[in-house]
Amino acid sequence: MSAAGRFISLEGIEGAGKSSLARALEVMLVARGLTVKLTREPGGTPLAERLRALVLERGAERISAEAETLLMFAARAVHVENLIRPALSGGAWVICDRFTDATRAYQGAGRGVDAELIERLAHTVHGNLWPHRTLLLDLPVDTGLTRARRRAGAGDRFEDEDRRFFERVRAGYLALAAAEPARVRLVDAANAPDTVATRAFDAIADLLPGAA
Ligand code: TMP
Repeated sequence: MSAAGRFISLEGIEGAGKSSLARALEVMLVARGLTVKLTREPGGTPLAERLRALVLERGAERISAEAETLLMFAARAVHVENLIRPALSGGAWVICDRFTDATRAYQGAGRGVDAELIERLAHTVHGNLWPHRTLLLDLPVDTGLTRARRRAGAGDRFEDEDRRFFERVRAGYLALAAAEPARVRLVDAANAPDTVATRAFDAIADLLPGAA
């Protein structure tokens, strides 16, 4: 196995438990002597975090689905260039809370943005860089939204969407898992956090140094 790191993305609807899983995986990987960089999208670098705030805040001005898509990719372009690629070249494992699959699911399946446009932007922004593995934390929309709304904080522009929007997002994610089963692995997020972490770790174990 080369010295280059591994790129893992976590996906799922709100309330799926991605952030807790990211922290649990970090602990498990660090315990095996690996260097881990936890990051998220939109965000991950100072400029990309500023773009995140702009795209998630509730404002008076309407943001079209296309503008939203471009903002996601603007943040991603900065993040890939300034954090993800350098971290991978340095041999780190990058665990990224969401990546381009989120644009496919939210802007594509959720908002109806042209899939070809999304694929063209993805190619421009990150070429052939894709996660080595994507863990899709799947759970019923009602369960996810109940969990998300119980969290502290005022939520964001996406959390104001209705249930039907999140059903389309979830279906979009499941279609991605069906289309790319080698990369995108389904993890049942309705389980207890420890079980989710164990199953998620099993789903990336073949990428560990020395794994068959
Ligand atoms: P988070 O809740 O995982 O922090 O993500 C913030 C929101 O941004 C979430 O509702 C999903 C949304 N999002 C998109 O719509 N498209 C994207 O490409 C990304 C990365 C996130």
